[in-house]
Amino acid sequence: MTGQFHHISVLLNECMDALRPKDGGVYLDCTIGGAGHSTALLSLAPKARLYGIDRDADALAAAEKRLSTDHPGADYHLLRGNFHDARELVTEPLDGILVDLGVSSYQLDEAGRGFSYHGDAPLDMRMDQRQELTAEVIVNEWPEKEISRILKEYGEENWAAQIARVLCDRRKKERIATADQLVEIIDASIPKKFRARDDSHPARRTFQALRIAVNDELAPLEKALRDMVRMLSPGGRLAVISFHSLEDRIVKNSFRSMENPCTCPKDFPVCVCGKKPLVRLTPRGGITASSEEIRDNPRSRSATLRVAERLEDA
Ligand SMILES: C[S@@+](CC[C@H](N)C(=O)[O-])C[C@H]1O[C@@H](n2cnc3c(N)ncnc32)[C@H](O)[C@@H]1O
Repeated sequence: MTGQFHHISVLLNECMDALRPKDGGVYLDCTIGGAGHSTALLSLAPKARLYGIDRDADALAAAEKRLSTDHPGADYHLLRGNFHDARELVTEPLDGILVDLGVSSYQLDEAGRGFSYHGDAPLDMRMDQRQELTAEVIVNEWPEKEISRILKEYGEENWAAQIARVLCDRRKKERIATADQLVEIIDASIPKKFRARDDSHPARRTFQALRIAVNDELAPLEKALRDMVRMLSPGGRLAVISFHSLEDRIVKNSFRSMENPCTCPKDFPVCVCGKKPLVRLTPRGGITASSEEIRDNPRSRSATLRVAERLEDA
């Protein structure tokens, strides 16, 4: 880790209200990052047991530093891995699970990690530095059609095909290795008159798409959420914060299908499929940041928290 680990935890009080930490309880923070949420949890329940997962070695080092300073002697266990494998990593029944999706501000700001579209940062974007696939491999080696597909699917980029075409032309002449090179390609692909109407950075969608593809963030999410519900004790709660509509859609739909898994035709008077609800949603909708939080931490603007509670007889 080179720079300071800086990250403001989003929807902190709302997450604690959802998880209701208690002494003697067992909790899992699937995305421990700088341990902001976990520190708050142990402050409310110093005698709880906490498991923390992250796939980023820098995050785990920061979490260890914070927890050992703020909660020396607490019963915490840090694990390097992917939360998609949470069920293999933690086998104890849990009272609460938190998932704070996406990347931390530290990862975004640390130029060497290659998440940011500013400067001559390398096109890396790996959360787990042991992984082989980087954004540089995708932009230089993947077929044009695949690049266009991920920009459309994961970035919801209207100019996906155009960007993929210009990129693949450019890479015949030189390897695309830095954020600056990619931004220039995106600039050259989107006609000026369309860019002017959108106040966000023209590279935002492409960088989001590459990050999702490099870290395979979406496809395994639904199964991971189902696994997590199975890891809860009855009455235990799963709290998930998402940061863009693609993620939130998966969380919302997964929760709804666990709340109401019945597949019987609507006009059947009684259920014959036998599929029983696993969770109740509490509240039913998503929780978003207050205007005060958004003022203090603009990153919270796009956050949505959803909470599912495992039913007693599920
Ligand atoms: C938004 S940050 C978490 C910040 C943390 N809640 C805090 O308050 O400090 C997300 C963290 O999750 C990690 N992460 C994202 N996806 C992951 C996955 N599939 N498995 C494990 N860790 C993941 C990232 O490396 C990052 O450190």
